[in-house]
Order: sequence, then C-alpha cells, then structure tokens
Amino acid sequence: MMDEISYWMTSMMKNKPNYDCFHGGIYSVNPALVQLDFSSNVNPLGISKDLLNDVSRELGSLCTTYPDPSCRELKKSILDYLGLELDPKWLLVGNGATELIHIFARTFIRGKVVISAPTFCEYELSARRLGATIKFVPLKNWEHDPEIILKEAKEGCDAVFLCNPNNPTGVLSTESARKIIENIDPHTQMFLDECFIELVEESDKKNNSMIELVSEYKNLVILRSMTKSFSLAGIRLGYCVCNPNLINLMLDNMISWNVNGVAQKIGMLVLKDKSYLENSRRLIRRERNFMVKELKKKTKFSPMSSDVNYFLIDVSDQSSTEVRNYLLNNRGILVRDCSTFTGMGLKHIRVAVKKHIENAILIDALSSMES
Ligand SMILES: Cc1ncc(COP(=O)(O)O)c(C=O)c1O
Repeated sequence: MMDEISYWMTSMMKNKPNYDCFHGGIYSVNPALVQLDFSSNVNPLGISKDLLNDVSRELGSLCTTYPDPSCRELKKSILDYLGLELDPKWLLVGNGATELIHIFARTFIRGKVVISAPTFCEYELSARRLGATIKFVPLKNWEHDPEIILKEAKEGCDAVFLCNPNNPTGVLSTESARKIIENIDPHTQMFLDECFIELVEESDKKNNSMIELVSEYKNLVILRSMTKSFSLAGIRLGYCVCNPNLINLMLDNMISWNVNGVAQKIGMLVLKDKSYLENSRRLIRRERNFMVKELKKKTKFSPMSSDVNYFLIDVSDQSSTEVRNYLLNNRGILVRDCSTFTGMGLKHIRVAVKKHIENAILIDALSSMES
C-alpha cells in the first residue's frame, strides 16, 4: 500500500482535466459477457416478490401521476425507520445518493476540498466539475487520517469528504471520522457518506453511525443510499440528513420531481419490512466469512478484512486488470478492477458478497487461476 500511495502522491494529485469516474456494474463492460456481476456492491438479499406484487398493482397510477416533489410520505417513513425525532425538513431525498453528492458540491464547493482516498469517485468528479482544487489525503493503515485531514482543512477548504465504511476497502474508520467531525472548523462542510453503514453488523452499526450528531454539528451532512442497503440499484434512491439551513441551500439546486413515483412507493414499502436488514447482515457475515476462508485455502490471492458486503483481494503477482479480464472472458464473471480508483495501483480487485451458490462459483473460478 505504501508504494501505491507514494506513486499516487507524486502523480495523481495533479489536477486531471478530463477525469473519468469509473463504476462497476454490467454496463461498465459489454453486458452480454456478464453472467455473474461481483462488481456492484448492493445488498445481496435483493427485493421480495410480495413487494413487487404490491407495487405492480399500483403501477398504472404511479406511472401516470406526478409524484410528490417533496417526497413527504417517504420522508416520514425514513425518519420513522431511523428513529430520529427530527422534522422532515432535516431530510433531502435524491435520485440515488449520487445525485445528492453533486447537489452538495454545487451548493457548497467553490475553491478547495479535501478527500480521504482511495474512495468512491463521485466526490472527486463533483469537485472537478466545479473547478475545485482537490487535496487527497491517503488512508493510513486503511483508515482515515485525522491529523493530515485536519491540517489540510485548516489551511482553508469548503468541504471534507469521508466515507464510512469506505469504498472500495469495506473498512470502518469510525474513531477517525468522529475526531474529524469534532475538530473541524464549523465553516467547513463535513460530508460523511454512510451508504454502507446499514450493512455493517447491528451491534457495530449503532456505535458507528454519526447520524445522531447532525443536531449537534450544523456543518455535518450524512449521506445514505437505499440503492445499496435495500438493493434498489435500478430504482435509484438516496437521502441525506443535515441541518435545515444546509437543506434549504441545497434545495436551490434541486430539479423538481427528481424522485419518481415508483421509487417513492418502493422506498416506503422496503422500510416496512423490519427484518430485512437484519437478515441481510446475517447473510453477509456468513457468506463473507465463507469467501475469505475459501479464498485463503484454495487460491494464491489474499482477501482483506472488511466490515461490509464487499472486500478487496490482493491479486499477488498478477495485475487487477488481467484478473478482471480473465474472469470475464473465461467465466462470465465481472469483478471490480480497482486500478481506476484514484490512489490505487494494479494490486487489488473488489468483489461483492452475494448468495452462497454465486460465491462458490467465484471461488471456483479464482482457484482455477492457480495453474
Ligand atoms: C460509497 C458510495 N456512496 C454512494 C454511492 C452511490 O449510491 P447510489 O447508487 O444510491 O447513487 C456509491 C455507489 O457505488 C458508493 O459506493
């Protein structure tokens, strides 16, 4: 990791004018080649048939009626689910969490931002589109580095972006995130992406989420993604929670009816199922343990420790691009080549934790690369 970071410090910190923000998913390659997608890291439990039946009964009117532009019912359901005694004006709902990253950036970024990296590329993309100077602060032992982040922020910056648990590492860095929130200048906006926190073990999740701090810190924006937590990638649904003064400023950059009626309806329905996330976390823990154990036993690759539904694999003497291409072309399996994350070299792929039979197929394919 150190080698990669020094490489990155010298080359990647220069502003890249035509920045490409790469994602996983079947459309990142020729979709006809993909039989199993391990590159998208959404909840492996999927969506229930009963829920789909409920929605299909209302599909006609959902398609022909303008949706509530303020998502009032959905906001009530979200606050109820979160158990927060806040007014709905503390919430902003987006067409996926990604929309809210860009709305946040457009509202608050003018000059400089600090990004703890490697991480999800949309923070960088949103800042670049605004012509901002970006200071990347490398992870330290895979965690956010409060000392350097606070030092960079102190020199003047509009916003700091943190992701907890982080993508692509899957690692929680809660104490560092807390330290940064507590010590940062209140005029700097703190953007904390918790899009995967609901997939962290329940006992840990409670202590790791900073969502309750929004009433204390007026500069703290917490991002959540129902896309990730409830497997709604095609539906697109996310929200952020923060002080209403920030929401009001962001509202000036929102487009009316940004969240369609089907998404609002499905969002309310998934939140009713109280056991869904608990079952998801159980599945993820069991399958992640299975995958890590089997990878260590049967392959030359080294899985890294993770707190969520995806993890990095060190691909040893091969390159991540070679491994991705081999699996795709020979087995129809798509994994995430991490070389496109700012700050990472060719040493890692990222795989999602899926259902057992699918995970076993991935292990089998990776073991066949031994020879
Ligand atoms: C850390 C993180 N935040 C946000 C998102 C975007 O979520 P959504 O699909 O809801 O836009 C992603 C998607 O990969 C992500 O990895």
